[in-house]
Amino acid sequence: MKVTYLSQAGRLGGAEISLLEILASLKRSEPGWELSLVAPGDGLLVSRARALGIPTTVLPFPAVLARLGEPPQGAGVRAGLGRLGRLPHLAWAAASYGRRLRRLLATAHPQIVHANGLKMHLLGAWARPLDSALVWHVHDYIGPRRTTARLLRRYAGRCDAVVANSRSVADDVRSVLGDRVNISTIYNAVDLRRFAPTGPVLDLDALAGFPRAEPGTVKVGLVATFARWKGHGRFLEALAKLPGTPAVRGYVIGAPIYETDGSQRSLEELRRLARDLGISARVGFTGFVEKPASAMRALDIVVHASTEPEPFGLVIAESMACGRAVIAVQAGGAAEIIDDEVTALALRPGDSSHLAACIARLAADPALRARLAQAASASAAARFDSRHLASKLVPLYRGLVSDN
Ligand code: GLC
Repeated sequence: MKVTYLSQAGRLGGAEISLLEILASLKRSEPGWELSLVAPGDGLLVSRARALGIPTTVLPFPAVLARLGEPPQGAGVRAGLGRLGRLPHLAWAAASYGRRLRRLLATAHPQIVHANGLKMHLLGAWARPLDSALVWHVHDYIGPRRTTARLLRRYAGRCDAVVANSRSVADDVRSVLGDRVNISTIYNAVDLRRFAPTGPVLDLDALAGFPRAEPGTVKVGLVATFARWKGHGRFLEALAKLPGTPAVRGYVIGAPIYETDGSQRSLEELRRLARDLGISARVGFTGFVEKPASAMRALDIVVHASTEPEPFGLVIAESMACGRAVIAVQAGGAAEIIDDEVTALALRPGDSSHLAACIARLAADPALRARLAQAASASAAARFDSRHLASKLVPLYRGLVSDN
């Protein structure tokens, strides 16, 4: 079987980490298959895929296409597809990229084109060879992105199967595309060897340029890209509302990684917010970490605070696998991952007072942290093992090839 994967980013965000797990899982289970990857820019996705032995072509996006993205409505971002002034330029860039991609796919001639990310869904629909099957792997909600939804509806006839990263995203895809497409829910997997309760631990204080925390200080962190809806503001507000004891130190772990216009906060903006809240001495900014598992293991509590429903929430699954006490927003696909009071504490979306209360409760109760952490790592090991990926994707691909 020949499968070509199209990634809409060369850097590592959740959708790209998920793609790497797919590549690793299929490589192990189907060593005879020919897997290849096309990415629109260099980055860790590209180097890690190559390290797995996956032939990878970088076909760079023109800048206008790299910056293009439609934020979900209500996410408070102004930029996006709606900037009419650049439409002709954009249409030209997309058409010329589509032609180059079509030539590349015609040469590779895969049986399956697996497109990861909304831009690649459309480009894949234009560029795929007519006799290969097209899979759209949907990692985000489409419904709240009106222009994207309209375009995907228009090209849905060219898509043979949709993979959604949660039931919640599958429902959203169904509400946009109807029953015309065959939709499967496949949860993301986690590399359980790397995301394990024991292993290397990062010195977060050193990364943040802080003196080492006093013994007994409870460490709580938000691990995320700087997308505006990841809830950094709520996290900082919650830290400001904590009582003085026990001592808690916060960490913002991550950086703005996507190039999409206006979608990301800047480090300066977050530092300013911490200053305005009077907590600069209690919250460290580590920047992007290449090995998030070592950062998670350095934390007592991992917080997920997205202000929009989280399509899946890979960081939640990874932190659970690392045996951490997790606080996660109970909305969207994230609500399918956690079991409130058993594997995590469920947070009301957008409520920084509730977040402060959850952090304070866990900070004061090491036994509760240990109980949640243990149940979380057992649940992650059972539900997010990468072997599940191959066991679901192999029959899906085979079915598509025999239908063609
Ligand atoms: C996207 C989603 C996130 C999910 C990841 C992997 O980044 O926003 O919720 O975990 O894709 O599917």
